Amino acid sequence: MKVYVPRDAAARALGSDAVAAAFVAAGHRVIRNGSRGMVWLEPLVEIEEDGLRRAYGAVTPADVPGILSGAVESLGPVEDIPFFARQTRLTFARCGLIDPLDLSDYEAHGGLAGLRRALALGPEGIVAEVKASGLRGRGGAGFPTGVKWDTVARAQADRKYIVCNADEGDSGTFADRMIMEGDPFSVIEGMVIAGIAVGATKGFVYIRSEYPDAIDVMTHAVEISRKNKLLGRILQSSHEFDIELRVGAGAYVCGEETSLLNSLEGKRGVVRAKPPLPALEGFMGRPTVVNNVLSLATVPVIFERGAAHYAGFGLGRSRGTMPVQIAGNVARGGLFETAFGMPLGDLVHDIAGGTASGRPVKAVQVGGPLGAYFAPAKFDTPFGYEEFDGQGGLIGHAGVVVFDDSADMRAMARFAMEFCAIESCGKCTPCRIGAVRGVETIDRIAAGDAGAVPLLVDLCETMKHGSLCALGGFTPYPVMSALEQFPEEFGGLREAAA
Ligand code: NAI
Ligand code: SF4
Repeated sequence: MKVYVPRDAAARALGSDAVAAAFVAAGHRVIRNGSRGMVWLEPLVEIEEDGLRRAYGAVTPADVPGILSGAVESLGPVEDIPFFARQTRLTFARCGLIDPLDLSDYEAHGGLAGLRRALALGPEGIVAEVKASGLRGRGGAGFPTGVKWDTVARAQADRKYIVCNADEGDSGTFADRMIMEGDPFSVIEGMVIAGIAVGATKGFVYIRSEYPDAIDVMTHAVEISRKNKLLGRILQSSHEFDIELRVGAGAYVCGEETSLLNSLEGKRGVVRAKPPLPALEGFMGRPTVVNNVLSLATVPVIFERGAAHYAGFGLGRSRGTMPVQIAGNVARGGLFETAFGMPLGDLVHDIAGGTASGRPVKAVQVGGPLGAYFAPAKFDTPFGYEEFDGQGGLIGHAGVVVFDDSADMRAMARFAMEFCAIESCGKCTPCRIGAVRGVETIDRIAAGDAGAVPLLVDLCETMKHGSLCALGGFTPYPVMSALEQFPEEFGGLREAAA
């Protein structure tokens, strides 16, 4: 009999350590796996007997004797739970299934097959395959990953670098953390393939300090990789690659790639003007691939199954799958990996089960604190980069935060401006001063000065077009989307918002 109890930070926050200890006290060896992503069922315990894995949800230590005796009813196999059964798991296929720090378990579930194929294809073949897969940057901007790798591969330099951006800061997002804790070798394998593709021998994983469990798992995974030739001389080939972990200090803006690079270099996390692109002048002025955790963790499966298989999923220019993270006021929160194209309303109602409070959904914010609010009238928008852009929003890192009808949209707009004022790096005026003025202007509206609404619209235009990076440039999205869809909460001036 095998007992799986997640060591994922969300499961631990819900008591999985005590549950694991109860199984150990009852004389069982426990495998600390990652999470399957159904956060409302955590701690989700799985018992494997005769090759069949049965799940038990929201387990407490008091449930353990009943689970072992058969008195507690099982949920059945995880794969049969509707939330899980409706997913297309490519990037997260192994997450929660395997022991995250067992490299042979990783290999037994398809790990390293992608790397072996990539080694056979060689650098140019790798870049061509990533381009053919249609993979776009999963950090939020959706830039084609293959084109970015091509730029770095073609650049002439004595050294090149791969930087994995694990400074996951968007509200409601946790996919980077979950994969680092549940399937860390997929991130490492993706970085190694990127290194071979562009001719880089060194990589950094920049993880936010708020993720101590991910830091711990990744640290061990890097050590295991070095001992087993996944790092160093890669699988006995002529390619060399090594990875260093760096821990950020908690600034949201350090998730912006140039600010992250400054932080990596030991400087203040201030945004650099682009150009030059990091692909040409990045870490220490050398050509650098900066990719989000999910982009890199998706690379192995693209090589394992082939670009055409990956590109076969999706909608329009959004190819493959997206691990959507559903949070906020929902009945069933968690990670739902799906091919692009599912309408937003299906995610909110069918998958997440509507609000936890049972009240009507008022709006969802998609794409983090800089993402637009979507009222139910826009719920038929299919999940895709261009589709959301067309509705004045963005999918960003695919965080979906649900609010019921008690949400105060003017307060949410104020929060967006306040967040920007606090997190601004201070480099450019529209963001540094604009965000502070934004808070003041919304306070004037709250005090009954409806004439301040056009001023807010004007300010948003200035921030959107005049800011140097996405923090100042995208803060108008939540503000304007709240104003346009809920004008009555800003004094009722719909025409001023239009
Ligand atoms: P961007 O559009 O400026 O750049 C996207 C990426 O493409 C960058 O890595 C850039 O260097 C690269 N690039 C652009 N042209 C290139 C070329 N010709 N060759 C090679 N590479 C090229 O967007 P940015 O500012 O990097 O990201 C903004 C996004 O970040 C927003 O959409 C937002 O959703 C997201 N975001 C994500 C957060 C998270 O926690 N994951 C937090 C905050 C924002
Ligand atoms: Fe810094 Fe804000 Fe300007 Fe970005 S928009 S460079 S965070 S001041």
